[in-house]
Amino acid sequence: MNRALPVNKNDYIDVVFEDLTHDGAGVAKVEGYPLFVPNGLPGEKAKVKIIKVNKSYGIGRLIELYEQSPYRVDIPDSEKTKYGGCQLEHISYEGQLKYKENQVRQVLTRIGKLEDVTVHPILGMDNPLSYRNKAQVPVGEKDGKLVAGFFKQRSHEIVDMDESVIQLPEVNEAIQTAKEICRRLGIPAYNEETHKGVLRHIMARYGKQTGELMVVLITRTPEIPHKKELIEEIIARLPKVKSIVHNVNSKRTNVILGEKTNLLWGSEVIYDYIGDVKFAISALSFYQVNPVQTKVLYDKALEYADLDGEESVIDAYCGIGTISLFLAQKARKVFGVEVVPEAIEDARRNAALNGMTNAEFAVGEAEVVIPKWYKEGNKADVLVVDPPRKGCDEALLQTIIDMKPRKVVYVSCNPATLARDLRILEDGGYKTLEVQPVDMFPMTTHVECVAQLILKCDTVK
Ligand SMILES: C[S@@+](CC[C@H](N)C(=O)[O-])C[C@H]1O[C@@H](n2cnc3c(N)ncnc32)[C@H](O)[C@@H]1O
Repeated sequence: MNRALPVNKNDYIDVVFEDLTHDGAGVAKVEGYPLFVPNGLPGEKAKVKIIKVNKSYGIGRLIELYEQSPYRVDIPDSEKTKYGGCQLEHISYEGQLKYKENQVRQVLTRIGKLEDVTVHPILGMDNPLSYRNKAQVPVGEKDGKLVAGFFKQRSHEIVDMDESVIQLPEVNEAIQTAKEICRRLGIPAYNEETHKGVLRHIMARYGKQTGELMVVLITRTPEIPHKKELIEEIIARLPKVKSIVHNVNSKRTNVILGEKTNLLWGSEVIYDYIGDVKFAISALSFYQVNPVQTKVLYDKALEYADLDGEESVIDAYCGIGTISLFLAQKARKVFGVEVVPEAIEDARRNAALNGMTNAEFAVGEAEVVIPKWYKEGNKADVLVVDPPRKGCDEALLQTIIDMKPRKVVYVSCNPATLARDLRILEDGGYKTLEVQPVDMFPMTTHVECVAQLILKCDTVK
């Protein structure tokens, strides 16, 4: 029999927020029953209206704040801020850092059962705004006009937005200008519901160190109307543009990029530097979005790898070889693995660009390629992983445990999967020495960490 719930829909109740969810909503408990309330902050007392009840949790709306958190700050337009991707902008930067650091500590204990690991204070930014070197915005139509910005929550409606406080000014300008040009030329916006129309997304990427800009237009159709004028006007109005790319995504899907990419003008890649290493970046490749903090993160990964020039290193989930080439500066040999073929082309080009001959790259799934290498006798002294949010595949973790590299450096953008994977590696013979959170994504709920593990008893054969 179902236990009666302590709240009903449309009730007004007083609560105290204890925590934040992973997407930045306040969490309050009523007789142990969790209530998630957007905009509530830990420590705040408030009146809320219950708008939804489920068996295991309820959702509320903030009606009145009786006591404010010392970390709350005023923001000009909360709807644009939150749905535009800045879920934590109503918290002071000091408060954001505190929240993220606590979150890492909590999940390492709760999920990873790691009681004695050293978690360092999070490394934040001096200026936590205008940092993103990339934006990709959905395009739609409102009142007969092309708009681009973000999806209104739980709807297909696109809210127009010209700039985001976390994007570099060059990225804001590129998106806004491309949007204006498409609007003026009457390029039809894509409609998600009918799967008709043309322009689905506009993407801009900027090399902060080189000043090179890439604009990517993602369409449903293989052709773009007014292509010639479109290209000419982008070149005329965005003098930093070095590459204009067309990507075709004809599927009914939430995935932004499709499989077919054509170069419309300029170079297939733009360049950027992290530290002294130069990188070529193509439209489809993953490249870290916060160039300032990327250097901080990679320096820490390199420090944790603790190389003396003799080691063989595997960099799993290597993208365009960014971490691989950082490591190659100090290792005997680095082998990078990545599933996106274009990224591996970039990685090889990047090695050549920097005159590095001790880095080799393979296309494939890390959980398939690395076990194969291990069977063939290719073992690493140090293994670095930097997986997507879902963490490492179990087959890869098992191969690490079997291969026994002396050190593992785990770069993670999701503390929960990091904690889960650290537990598996600990049970397989590793010890997590340190975890360093790095704030790669100020104003958002995302948390990045790098962890150093060593083999508990050094029984490498
Ligand atoms: C968080 S990114 C890290 C990239 C790179 N280390 C960097 O810092 O730029 C994760 C990368 O893993 C790749 N990836 C996803 N699943 C993979 C898999 N099963 N095997 C290999 N690479 C994968 C993605 O394409 C992406 O480039």
